[in-house]
Amino acid sequence: MQYPERLDRYRGQVEAALEQYAAAFNGPAALREAMSYSLRAGGKRLRPTLLLSTCDLFNGDGHDPWPAACALEFVHTYSLIHDDLPALDNDDLRRGMPTCHKRFGEALAILAGDALLTEAFHLIGRSYRHAAPAVGIALTAELSEAAGAAGMVGGQVLDTVNVDPHAPIMAVEQVHRMKTGALIIASVRCGAIVGGADEESLAALTRYAAHIGLAFQVTDDILDVTSTAQELGKTIGKDAAQHKTTYVSAWGVEKSRAYAAELIDRAVAELSVFGDRAATLRDLAHFIRERKN
Ligand code: IPE
Ligand code: IPE
Ligand code: MG
Ligand code: MG
Ligand code: MG
Repeated sequence: MQYPERLDRYRGQVEAALEQYAAAFNGPAALREAMSYSLRAGGKRLRPTLLLSTCDLFNGDGHDPWPAACALEFVHTYSLIHDDLPALDNDDLRRGMPTCHKRFGEALAILAGDALLTEAFHLIGRSYRHAAPAVGIALTAELSEAAGAAGMVGGQVLDTVNVDPHAPIMAVEQVHRMKTGALIIASVRCGAIVGGADEESLAALTRYAAHIGLAFQVTDDILDVTSTAQELGKTIGKDAAQHKTTYVSAWGVEKSRAYAAELIDRAVAELSVFGDRAATLRDLAHFIRERKN
């Protein structure tokens, strides 16, 4: 399934915004090249799309969601560059292209990831400090918590360093919530913050995001065994080859699919309070269940 039209429109706009930022990166040419290479490699741009469509639910105070949306994609792209490194998943293919370290070597790939992470916070700082300092601080708190030791990085540690091949499913769920779910929740919450959401809406959206975030990694585990490298843009069969504990290794494909579908139903139920305004977030949830890449 391709992105539905509504989502693809966001994706096209995100590409253009990222391109502007990439063209303006500072620093040594080799570093800028490695950062831009991974950032420009495509991808679904799911996290910025989530942020923008969540922000669109609210009338807000007219704060600009674009710097936050692009910052999310910077952090996500850094996480992919580092995830692919030989010391972690040791992958050669990402977004249909050679991975950053394959193309530029390990040192530059590590540093390009470091720089993208740092640039994300620079972007938020410089974009909101005058126009909306409270929004900037709230975004910084959300993103740093989600990306850090209790979120994405912590999840990566449990997934690649402290691997327990006999982990019970609850432990697998926790890893998935941390390594992938946390940034997806942050995308939605940052959109709600920029949009000026009330507490009740923020709580419902956080529950929606937690369900789609877990479903997203369950489908990632499924696609690793059911897809092709061409369709996925990354090497397949990696999880089994590296003896990772995934939903598929624990439950098999069918039960994992059923669980992803159940999570998506729960996510969509959380959107009922928003009525038709949440059509794009509903599309995104269904896309996550049915996605082919
Ligand atoms: C891949 O994320 C890594 C995971 C967190 C599962 P995406 O599937 O969103 O990757 P891109 O951005 O589309 O390449
Ligand atoms: C990645 O999980 C999560 C990240 C934080 C990048 P995976 O290792 O399963 O992601 P892919 O399959 O390489 O994209
Ligand atoms: Mg990994
Ligand atoms: Mg990986
Ligand atoms: Mg995977």
